[in-house]
Amino acid sequence: MALHSPITMAFQKPRRAAGKVKYTIFAVVTLCVLYYLRNSATATFNTAFRPIEDHMNGGTPQSPIKPGDKTRPNAHSHPITALIEEAEVTFEDLLRKESRDLKSAAAAYRTRRGRHPPPGFDAWYGFAQENGAVMVEEFFDQIYHDLGPFWGVEPKVMRKEAWDYEMTINIRNQNASAGSGWFWTQIWLDLTKTIQHLLPDMDLALNSMDEPRIAVPWEDINGYMEKERASRKMANPKEVVSDFQILGQHPDAEVEMAQKWWESKKETRRFWDVASRGCHPDSLARKADHQTNFNDTPSITLAHTLPHTYKGYVSNFSLSADFCHQPDLQGLHGMMIEPLSVSSTRHLFPMFGGSKLPTNNEILLPAPMYWNGEERFSGGANHGANWVDKQNKVIWRGVATGGKNKPDNWKGFQRHRFVAMTNATQVSGAENWSQIPENFALPPSEYDIAAQQEGKLGRWTEEWADTGFIDLMCLEPEKDATCYYTDPYFKVNKAMKMAEQFDRKYVPDIDGNSFSGRYRGFLLSTSLPIKATIFREWHDSRLVPWKHFVPMDNRFLDFWGIMEYFVGFEGEVVKREGHDAQAERIALAGQEWANKVLRKEDMQIYVLRLLLEYARLSDERRDNMGWVADLL
Ligand SMILES: *[C@@H]1O[C@H](CO)[C@@H](O)[C@H](O)[C@H]1NC(C)=O
Ligand SMILES: *[C@@H]1O[C@H](CO)[C@@H](O)[C@H](O)[C@H]1NC(C)=O
Ligand SMILES: *[C@@H]1O[C@H](CO)[C@@H](O)[C@H](O)[C@H]1NC(C)=O
Ligand SMILES: *[C@@H]1O[C@H](CO)[C@@H](O)[C@H](O)[C@H]1NC(C)=O
Repeated sequence: MALHSPITMAFQKPRRAAGKVKYTIFAVVTLCVLYYLRNSATATFNTAFRPIEDHMNGGTPQSPIKPGDKTRPNAHSHPITALIEEAEVTFEDLLRKESRDLKSAAAAYRTRRGRHPPPGFDAWYGFAQENGAVMVEEFFDQIYHDLGPFWGVEPKVMRKEAWDYEMTINIRNQNASAGSGWFWTQIWLDLTKTIQHLLPDMDLALNSMDEPRIAVPWEDINGYMEKERASRKMANPKEVVSDFQILGQHPDAEVEMAQKWWESKKETRRFWDVASRGCHPDSLARKADHQTNFNDTPSITLAHTLPHTYKGYVSNFSLSADFCHQPDLQGLHGMMIEPLSVSSTRHLFPMFGGSKLPTNNEILLPAPMYWNGEERFSGGANHGANWVDKQNKVIWRGVATGGKNKPDNWKGFQRHRFVAMTNATQVSGAENWSQIPENFALPPSEYDIAAQQEGKLGRWTEEWADTGFIDLMCLEPEKDATCYYTDPYFKVNKAMKMAEQFDRKYVPDIDGNSFSGRYRGFLLSTSLPIKATIFREWHDSRLVPWKHFVPMDNRFLDFWGIMEYFVGFEGEVVKREGHDAQAERIALAGQEWANKVLRKEDMQIYVLRLLLEYARLSDERRDNMGWVADLL
């Protein structure tokens, strides 16, 4: 599969010369490139690709949402209107599943998980109820996705590997402690201590890095999952054990562990190799050529978006984050191009972390910044003005993270792409063919953008876009914090407090070195988050795309279409109505819902459920453990 056409390759520029030199390019070549950029998207829009059903590693946790119904309501209305209507139905279906008492919560558990609930389920339920939880079994799907493979690992090996890890939280006799003072550990410890009175003995290994680390090949996970399926049963309640093991200070000292866990720099130099080995062997990610040159203008097309979009807009958000069917994302995300730090292993062992790629095998906890609620991530107590009082604008400020940006690799970085394509000067330059886009593509014609048809895409973008870096994260920063290779395209802007950003209506959220920690703050605000990501987080199955936030494809080609839908366009010839009321509704529904299911209490409830499951899984008697008081 050719990721780069020979035409785009012809546009490699001498690196150092990139500075202030004005490119004089023959008009005829310019024409070819723009023609190519436009048509490569058009040509591939209808390439159908069947996603692989059963890739449990790279796959999505079972979604609360029914698989997309292809005969959507209102086939003639705007696709976004149809997606919003569908989201309403999905959300209502989800709410209808709420359990109102312990008995029905346990029944919902057995139906969905195929096992008895873990010991302590009644105490968990009581805790959740005291804390006003919305009780829907699907909200905990991520736990089962993360823990599933460990049914294929021996409990004593799990315990030993957890205990032995360099950074741990240890719980003994309902007292949680940690040997490490690392601030993330301390934040997670703080969270764990709030529920320690309900926790059995266990040891938790913690990922202290930004990036996820456990990347087990699909074939191995498949083997573990076969064991999981084989072990799934509803034991006779009379034989079920309902207490947890007591652990010594140094359990399982005699158990042998696998050696040499962490892969060398050489092995992980191409991160795509590491990330994609968790994909199904028949997936495009595994089969496609692996990109080695990131120097050229990336080819950004809709070729691989069909499985997760409806008429160009994201219809399956969890699938949109799953790169197994999207081999082009290997060149469109800093994490794939050159992550800041990688230390990975193929070895499955129980490590907890705050976020991961769909193919990673960490056990997710709420990320530390969500628990401690720093201003820079949450906006503090200010959630923004009333919708009518906000500026009708898109605001994004951030650091040029994503990975290690360098002169020969920055063009595919997601934040660089987003800031460039929302820069009116660059868009106008691309439109009037005076400046070839370095790292983005104009919207393909499928999106039918009125401003583009009138040759005013740049001017229209200028009306609402306010995006920029506050730090270029240059490999060799120069004075004034400038950066010779990205300077021509990006300036360094002043930072803006999140609370001030909330005076604007639209807040896009773009991944950084790993997931973006602002997301919860955005959801809790009165502004509208527009979210693209390749990461998974603890809360994913609680949020309904198009009901609580606006999902965006990782290529961002849909961004102009999203903005046209919400803010509208008034041109000389064409006029497109905006949908301000819909934007306001999603913003406020997201806020209201986040105040119900993303509270700190919800993190405690999630972690308590998770750790009861983890403790059962680490117990030799796990096959016969459970809470069955309702059946006796
Ligand atoms: C999203 O795609 C996954 C994988 O194909 C599927 O299991 C899930 O049901 C889909 N969700 C929706 C909302 O269509
Ligand atoms: C909990 O454990 C820590 C660390 O071992 C110890 O310092 C502390 O006294 C213990 N607290 C209780 C209440 O036992
Ligand atoms: C093209 O757009 C750029 C950026 O807005 C502008 O500076 C330039 O004058 C335009 N060129 C032409 C030929 O219209
Ligand atoms: C927008 O792009 C131009 C180059 O076309 C650059 O000079 C300017 O600094 C960019 N603006 C921002 C906010 O990055």
